[in-house]
Amino acid sequence: MNAPERLENLQPFGDDYGPLLTGAFAPVFDEMTLTDLPLVKGAIPADLNGVYMRTGPNPRYAPQGRYHPFDGDGMVHAAMFDKGRLTVRNRWVRTDAFKEEEQAGTARFFGIRETLKGRSDKRLKDTGNTDMVGHGGKALALWYMSGDAWEIDPVTLDTLGRSQAIRQSGGAISAHAKVDEVTGEMMFFDYGNDAPYMHYGVVGADGRLLHHVPIALPGPRLPHDMAITEHYSILHDLPLFHDHEAMKLGRHKIEFHPEMKTRLGVIARMGAGDSIRWFDFSPCFLYHVVNAWEEGDWVVMVGCRYMPALKADGSIDAQRTARDVAELVQHARLWRWRMNLATGEAQEQALDLQHNVEFPTCNAALTGRRTRFGYLCDQREDVILQWPGIRKYDLDTGEMLSAWSDDREHSWYSEPWFAAADDAQSEDHGYLVAYQWNAALKRQTLDVFDARDLRVGPIAQVALPRHVPTGFHGCWIGAARIAHWDAR
Ligand SMILES: [Fe+2]
Repeated sequence: MNAPERLENLQPFGDDYGPLLTGAFAPVFDEMTLTDLPLVKGAIPADLNGVYMRTGPNPRYAPQGRYHPFDGDGMVHAAMFDKGRLTVRNRWVRTDAFKEEEQAGTARFFGIRETLKGRSDKRLKDTGNTDMVGHGGKALALWYMSGDAWEIDPVTLDTLGRSQAIRQSGGAISAHAKVDEVTGEMMFFDYGNDAPYMHYGVVGADGRLLHHVPIALPGPRLPHDMAITEHYSILHDLPLFHDHEAMKLGRHKIEFHPEMKTRLGVIARMGAGDSIRWFDFSPCFLYHVVNAWEEGDWVVMVGCRYMPALKADGSIDAQRTARDVAELVQHARLWRWRMNLATGEAQEQALDLQHNVEFPTCNAALTGRRTRFGYLCDQREDVILQWPGIRKYDLDTGEMLSAWSDDREHSWYSEPWFAAADDAQSEDHGYLVAYQWNAALKRQTLDVFDARDLRVGPIAQVALPRHVPTGFHGCWIGAARIAHWDAR
């Protein structure tokens, strides 16, 4: 064992930068490889094989100016399961910007709250801090504002370089590309401030760019996610985006437009950009999709609808909605949108109005195929990015099937990912894997649940010697999907 020292320094930059760089958000500064970690309870299942990876902001240098969690350098924390053994690693994503700052020994960029001070060559830093995707035997670290796809070795966490397919597209890639594990293809989008404002593309299982088309939007938008089905992709045009006048002055000010519709666009996987069909829905912002699939002529998408703030008279409070989104205040509900490709009919339905849930995942082998089960995080409205519990839902009925939290006040879970058991016999035969930070106990664990029933709590809980900073998205890459798993 590496015998790591216990680190309790949770205020590395002091209080000067506000609460988003302290406590659960405090970055860590050394890159570790940990083995023989002590079990708090249970045992690591031998039929759990692969890597759970999660990226998040972890600034290498003290920020210049005001800090926002979207700014920090991406750091991947990975838990590799191998026949009952566990190795936990953390490494920064070595983007060009990271290397530039490391060479300079100081921050060279301003963040999203200091855009006016930003550099003319690179206004914001492409960090790879937002999303992880397993594709083509590797992992990709992605950034929400559309940047490069940084290829990561899922075993060593070495940054291998940029995805050449994305470079070849001449565009960029947003967080939340989607992989069809049946065909091995990865569908992606980007968005930006110049017409046509969005592109859509497909990368083959072999890493080659197969398809890349412009998607004309009415103006610059702030989509966050997309969805795929067996034959289609679903792109998002949401009525929440930058104030265009402020943006011309270099400021990020977002506005919500309740007079506009939420539009979901359905495009054949290899479809021409102008063949996309848009369906209108009630206005909302939308961070994350659980999954989507086809049912006859219907394309079905289940996701987390950001619930617009309401005034006393029940009408939408556009200003407060925009402010809440900007400040990462979360209130979302599980929701289903249905689009009929034969008739053009659009339907939407709340699946659970009771629980504020987000950061959804499902059995990724079924991305784009009908899934019965979704796994979501509870989220607190009063503490940003705190997910104190996890829930399992029936995506057909909206029934909450099971849930777990051992400390709703102090627990911070990471986005949990479903990891299929080696010889899985059903959609939910496998495990949920997540990090858990308990802020009161100052205790960091890696928790493994039986995905069939969360109520029994973690069936394996491993103590980590220091905390894993709160981050964004993860992925599960089963051993069979890792290029050199057998050659480690
Ligand atoms: Fe996201």
